[in-house]
Amino acid sequence: MSKKLVVGNWKMHGDRAGNSELLAGILAAGPLPCDAAVCVPFVYLADTAVSLAASALRWGAQDVSAHARGAYTGEVSAPMLRELGCRYVIVGHSERRGGHAESDALVADKAKAALAHGLTPIVCLGETLEQRESGQTEAVVKRQLSAVIHVLGHCAGEIVVAYEPVWAIGTGRTASPDQAQSVHAILRTQLRAATAHADAMKILYGGSVKPDNAATLFAQADIDGGLIGGASLKAAEFVSICRAAQ
Ligand code: PGA
Repeated sequence: MSKKLVVGNWKMHGDRAGNSELLAGILAAGPLPCDAAVCVPFVYLADTAVSLAASALRWGAQDVSAHARGAYTGEVSAPMLRELGCRYVIVGHSERRGGHAESDALVADKAKAALAHGLTPIVCLGETLEQRESGQTEAVVKRQLSAVIHVLGHCAGEIVVAYEPVWAIGTGRTASPDQAQSVHAILRTQLRAATAHADAMKILYGGSVKPDNAATLFAQADIDGGLIGGASLKAAEFVSICRAAQ
């Protein structure tokens, strides 16, 4: 079985001194049993690249432009992220879909731009509480994933998918392992119809993953790791979640 993947999403947190302490704390824990990465604010990527260059920990960004270059004030392109050694980029996080009106089509174009420049997009999707309560979870996640599959075609097998129910993000309210697994199984089935690589693909769960719930989530058949927000800001918690991903 391939290694699980645990990715920290720092969101808009941190400062230079605190980041270097956090990364030093993670590195001090020694080798981790999973693949691991941190997705940091753009402005800290260069520092992060220096701190992690000699380690097995990878790094990435939290968003990317759908365009490779041009007159797009405020945007950051995939080639720029590559130049800073990024391996991953999060696209379609609910805080961007919701707060920045990112459509399914734009998220798909960002995933395509990332792949075209050697980055692995971590494509986030998930339903709101209202959608879950009105029985739309399956339709919503399938629609979000299908937009990406449509744009990527046979390259869909190269992405990482992150199922993040919006109601579980930053709320302390985690999806139960069964709830998460059932959505992951739906996504896996959808991926199988699109690519021969579906069984080797990583489908991460995100939303209030903590040291005390990580192991049971990661034990589910179709949960291949986690996308960790709040708990990735404390070295001990991030390391303990990584250790749960045996
Ligand atoms: P959380 O965030 O772990 O703080 O819920 C997860 C995410 O938004 O990626």
